Amino acid sequence: MFGGDVVGAGRVSLLGAPGRPAVTGERVAVRDYETADEASWLRCRVLALLATSSYDDVWPVKRRADLELVAPGGGGIVGLLDVSVPDVNAVIETVAVHPDHQRRGVATALLGEAVRRLERCGVRTLEVSVREDEPVLRWLARNGFAEASRSLHVYASEDEVGTVLNAKYGLTPVGAFLHARIEREAELRRRFERVHVCRGMNRVLG
Ligand SMILES: CC(C)(COP(=O)(O)OP(=O)(O)OC[C@H]1O[C@@H](n2cnc3c(N)ncnc32)[C@H](O)[C@@H]1OP(=O)(O)O)[C@@H](O)C(=O)NCCC(=O)NCCS
Repeated sequence: MFGGDVVGAGRVSLLGAPGRPAVTGERVAVRDYETADEASWLRCRVLALLATSSYDDVWPVKRRADLELVAPGGGGIVGLLDVSVPDVNAVIETVAVHPDHQRRGVATALLGEAVRRLERCGVRTLEVSVREDEPVLRWLARNGFAEASRSLHVYASEDEVGTVLNAKYGLTPVGAFLHARIEREAELRRRFERVHVCRGMNRVLG
């Protein structure tokens, strides 16, 4: 867990504080997530992911994170950034911008505010896992993230899953989500229809 220098009484107010006023950049306002944002937050996330390889990663309720920033707009949320901070290495859990508001600096503004707060708390690196989605890879490269690792995400369909899984208690697997080492890519692509390369991307904070 986070060490004493980083986590302390000040952490909550530095990382997130509901009711904190919006920070307005050149064009994009950024503020802390509030529970009243949940419905709009969930819609924004699912619509942003729809055009990506994570299209089926749907959350019906928001999972809480240590740092939760949103960009309000149009009567709701147009962008969101969630970061977990288990230690001096923070992890972006979700970054998503509503499709109607992309390429207007929303994600960059959210990241800028997050980095400012994380650096004040002594966080040293910011990590994120991404699949082969060109917009997010370009956005990360533009914002100082570099590739640190690669692994595989494999979805076994109903037809495929029987070749790799047996279930107990009379259950029949009808699908599975599995992780694998990148070295198995060629073999797993031959065996399974849906295989994603997952990149671990890192940014060193100042
Ligand atoms: C990645 C994402 C968050 C970027 O949000 P954004 O607010 O549009 O990004 P910004 O406006 O701050 O930055 C724009 C820059 O990012 C890159 N970029 C963003 N979308 C792009 C696209 N569709 N094609 C190419 N480059 C793109 C470009 O460098 C772009 O600069 P440019 O417009 O001058 O070429 C957004 O595309 C998104 O929500 N994607 C789906 C969700 C997702 O995959 N999240 C990551 C997994 S958690």
